[in-house]
Amino acid sequence: MSNMLTIAMPKGRIFDEAADLLRKAGYKLPPEFDESRKLILEVPAEKMRFILAKPMDVATYVEHGVADIGIAGKDVMLEEERDVYEVLDLKISECYLAVAGLPGGSGTGAVAPKVATKYPGVASSYFREQGEQVEIIKLNGSIELAPLIGLADRIVDIVSTGRTLKENGLVEFEKICSITSRLIVNPVSYRMKDEQIDELVSRLSAVVEGEAL
Ligand code: PRP
Repeated sequence: MSNMLTIAMPKGRIFDEAADLLRKAGYKLPPEFDESRKLILEVPAEKMRFILAKPMDVATYVEHGVADIGIAGKDVMLEEERDVYEVLDLKISECYLAVAGLPGGSGTGAVAPKVATKYPGVASSYFREQGEQVEIIKLNGSIELAPLIGLADRIVDIVSTGRTLKENGLVEFEKICSITSRLIVNPVSYRMKDEQIDELVSRLSAVVEGEAL
């Protein structure tokens, strides 16, 4: 293993907040970091290499050890059990998982209500706990479409500002759980690069704690 720390970053909306947090922790990330289309970015001065992954894939890179560390949403961690350590709640990208649908909608008429979601694991266990039998339909995005075009009676999805639900005439029925981004670590990396990782964790937790005050 090199002494470079490889960090899997989620592309998209979490990226800016995560980069901001690293900068506040004193890591000097070049300005082009934010605009680049490159998928691997090296920052030799900080002995860091970043890989830019789809949020759902971050934990896969960390579990397989090709990234030492990753920033992953709690939603992703709940959906698939991974052999990684979750070491710090970064308290960024706050949102929640909820059940939503059309207000008093007539639905699909199915015996077991159909639930569309990107999170089949979370949705199944939620409805099992509620004692409700449902049929889960897995989608990869634009979940709010499903009740609008008659594919599903309800959805289980992330709510952040609530705009997507509102602009599509959907209402929230139940909140399932709160979500924030977490710092995750590969167990072998934690043993091999403990000093570097401990330093990163303590610098980030100082920022997170400071911001919580
Ligand atoms: C997420 C989520 C909702 C939306 C919620 O989708 O699945 O659709 O954001 O945000 P809001 O409450 O602020 O409107 P995302 O934009 O990640 O894309 P996706 O549809 O591909 O999942």
